[in-house]
Amino acid sequence: MAKARAQSHRQAEQVLVHEDDVKDEEEAQTLDESGDPLEESGRTVDSSDEEIEESVAEDIIRFEDSFVGIDKRYRLINRIGEGTFSTVYKAEDLEYDRFENNWDLDERENKKWTSPQHRRRASKRPHYVAIKKIYVTSSPMRIFNELELLHDLKYSDAVCPLITAFRHLDQVVAVLPYFQHRDFRDYYRDMTIADVRLYFRSLFTALRSVHAQKILHRDVKPTNFLYNPEQARGVLVDFGLAERQGTDWHNCPCTLPANERRSRITNSVWAQTMQPGVQTSSYPKNDVRSSRRANRAGTRGFRAPEVLIKCTQQNTSIDMWAAGVILLTMLSRRFPFFHSADDIDALLELTSIFGKKKMRDISLLHGQVFETNIPSYSDNGHSLEKIILWCTGRTKDEKQKKIEMGDEEKEAVQFLYRLMECDPAKRITAEDALRHPFITKAFEDSEGDDDMVDLIGAEE
Ligand SMILES: Nc1ncnc2c1ncn2[C@@H]1O[C@H](COP(=O)(O)OP(=O)(O)OP(=O)(O)O)[C@@H](O)[C@H]1O
Ligand SMILES: [Mg+2]
Repeated sequence: MAKARAQSHRQAEQVLVHEDDVKDEEEAQTLDESGDPLEESGRTVDSSDEEIEESVAEDIIRFEDSFVGIDKRYRLINRIGEGTFSTVYKAEDLEYDRFENNWDLDERENKKWTSPQHRRRASKRPHYVAIKKIYVTSSPMRIFNELELLHDLKYSDAVCPLITAFRHLDQVVAVLPYFQHRDFRDYYRDMTIADVRLYFRSLFTALRSVHAQKILHRDVKPTNFLYNPEQARGVLVDFGLAERQGTDWHNCPCTLPANERRSRITNSVWAQTMQPGVQTSSYPKNDVRSSRRANRAGTRGFRAPEVLIKCTQQNTSIDMWAAGVILLTMLSRRFPFFHSADDIDALLELTSIFGKKKMRDISLLHGQVFETNIPSYSDNGHSLEKIILWCTGRTKDEKQKKIEMGDEEKEAVQFLYRLMECDPAKRITAEDALRHPFITKAFEDSEGDDDMVDLIGAEE
């Protein structure tokens, strides 16, 4: 993996890192992304400029003392996020006027709609950035990978661009525009289907631009998509686990033509040893084959089935599955929806929904055999409608009449099937999702609002 990455790094444009250049330490550390499942962490903290906790103030002072010169360029205001790999601070950019600020979306909007006097006044107001202090325990390869991909994505729609990066001794910080957003936990329960359409219009816009560059984000989840429901606008952040598609690929049967795959399955040792009518096969006593290795980085609960099954040719569609898990969360009003201890547990969670038959089929698709002796799993699983009705307390019992789904909600569930499609080749792409009626309705809904904006602009 390290070799493949090194190659792609050489081909790419160099990322400008202030202070001393990051030295080539590839040989010293490799990017081991098959580590432990990551926590669903990264809580969004209210970023108000007012009172901050004493411990946060002390942390800020420690950071300023250790990162010489940072306080000349930025006034650190608050700690706004703590993830697995970094701490993120809100800061005021003290040198804003000395640089080109093409990244500043608000300023661009501002220029479009206001008079020159207004603009002069506006540029005097503070400009905020998010400073991501990457933990020194992260490998240099991982840090370089994140900065390089962010650099390549800087003109991408709905992706939070990298403004700059600094290094002081072993500490690297990435500077990003501060994006005002709300904590997912505060709004996902109250979203109407119209709100859901707008959220996904924004998320798929980001994923379309990332996927167009053949980059997998790998960690799509609510804390990595900063969304502002009032503006119906969001940005994708955290490219710490992202990778170029094709990195470390090895042949997986899922990419073979269907007839070839079928004949391989029929002739496999597993099929030969299968006893007729019994859904189990015998195992070799001493299995000398080395176990399969595949990148399984991501957050538990959001990993696509092919990631859990260790497909060795994963592609950008894994991000669409994760988007599906977000949609399921919104429709079921349950967060986190999946809550597994490990990957086997996660596979069983999927089995309880999709049934044993589908899990067996998709495992074979990737050249794996799925078997379970847990009797409670059914062969065909349950429909997503049923799961959502059950999660939202709308299933029939003796006393209560069953409450049906409305047409809009049914439409959302049909769209959910396109995202939570277990076969990655059949799963909808971000590009096609933006053309799907479920999402295009979001454009129709907001067209009226755009007319309003136009009228306000013309009057000023
Ligand atoms: N540009 C930004 N504007 C505002 N807040 C941000 C920005 N970037 C990051 N944050 C906040 O910091 C949190 C952590 O950021 P990020 O996901 O990049 O770090 P991480 O350490 O890789 O996180 P995790 O381990 O949770 O995936 C985000 O969830 C968000 O709340
Ligand atoms: Mg994150």
